[in-house]
Amino acid sequence: MTVIVTGGAGFIGSNFIFHMLDSHPDYRIVCLDKLTYAGNLATLESVMDNPSFRFVRADIADRDAVYALFEEEKPDIIVNFAAESHVDRSIENPEIFLKTNIIGTSVLMDACRKYGIKRYHQVSTDEVYGDLPLDRPDLFFTEETPLHTSSPYSSSKAGADLLVLAYYRTYGLPVTISRCSNNYGPYHFPEKLIPLMIINALHDKPLPVYGKGENVRDWLYVEDHCRAIDLIIHNGRVGEVYNVGGHNEMRNIDIVRLILKELGKSEDLITFVTDRKGHDLRYAIDPAKIHRELGWLPETKFSDGLKKTIRWYLDNESWWRPVISGEYQEYYEKMYSCR
Ligand SMILES: NC(=O)c1ccc[n+]([C@@H]2O[C@H](COP(=O)([O-])OP(=O)(O)OC[C@H]3O[C@@H](n4cnc5c(N)ncnc54)[C@H](O)[C@@H]3O)[C@@H](O)[C@H]2O)c1
Repeated sequence: MTVIVTGGAGFIGSNFIFHMLDSHPDYRIVCLDKLTYAGNLATLESVMDNPSFRFVRADIADRDAVYALFEEEKPDIIVNFAAESHVDRSIENPEIFLKTNIIGTSVLMDACRKYGIKRYHQVSTDEVYGDLPLDRPDLFFTEETPLHTSSPYSSSKAGADLLVLAYYRTYGLPVTISRCSNNYGPYHFPEKLIPLMIINALHDKPLPVYGKGENVRDWLYVEDHCRAIDLIIHNGRVGEVYNVGGHNEMRNIDIVRLILKELGKSEDLITFVTDRKGHDLRYAIDPAKIHRELGWLPETKFSDGLKKTIRWYLDNESWWRPVISGEYQEYYEKMYSCR
């Protein structure tokens, strides 16, 4: 089996590559990544020399480059993680979100149609469902919840989902979609909540919390997400959407307090800042379908996962320090000038 993993130099994609190389040592894994500000080749350093792995720098919206790779690799499975993924950036500049998240998805699926594949999997997000009220803890997103997006980011992901389902219905492309809640774990880009708070706390810098920190997210350890996708691409039903979440709802402010406690830092570091425009209140996934059909359950408890994640950031300063300084963007040139 040859699997093309797009966006594999990012947070979840890289963890998925490690998972696949471990769990399916007989598979060939090809990472296609544009290396935007969010992609970091240093993340993949440990697998670069693995004979079952290949890295290719390309844009998923570049039709010629994508077709050339399909021609060469004849992939069986495509797992599309590549995306512009930061809500705040989408509010500042929506256009690149439409290009990568929607046009890029259509180019990948056109390549699948042209060359023939066994499965195209779209990694989506619970943000396509919009948000839930804070005072209705009985409500959850199911796969039947209507799409109702808030930000240019979530709208571009919802647009891509609709396109994926259209390619299934119109062309019979064998697709699946997963919609996952917030992930956390190693190699998470330091602009996102958990790594940002860990790193700021380590430097005794203020911890900026939007609004009053009351927004609720359903957190899942990244390895549990990777196992879910592995199950879906092998055993999931074609044309279906699977929600992935751990029934682990936490208010942002409580996560920040836990991080400070774990690091032995004072809560005085917390600084409340003006809320994000259109900030979604609560996300909560009902993962009953993936449990019932594929037997998936999360394995990592939040308290353990958060401790592991904090430990990882403490032990891997050499990974995040160049990310913060911007130096990591020169890494590709360094790696490839000597190859
Ligand atoms: N992080 C989460 O909590 C979360 C939750 C649910 C779903 N998702 C989805 O999972 C996927 C991965 O998220 P992440 O947090 O790992 O994102 P990320 O921002 O860490 O990584 C995105 C990767 O995609 C690459 N990329 C961006 N544009 C590209 C393009 N045009 N062509 C090729 N590569 C490109 C980047 O270089 C980067 O390596 C996204 O589709 C996101 O919507 C994320």
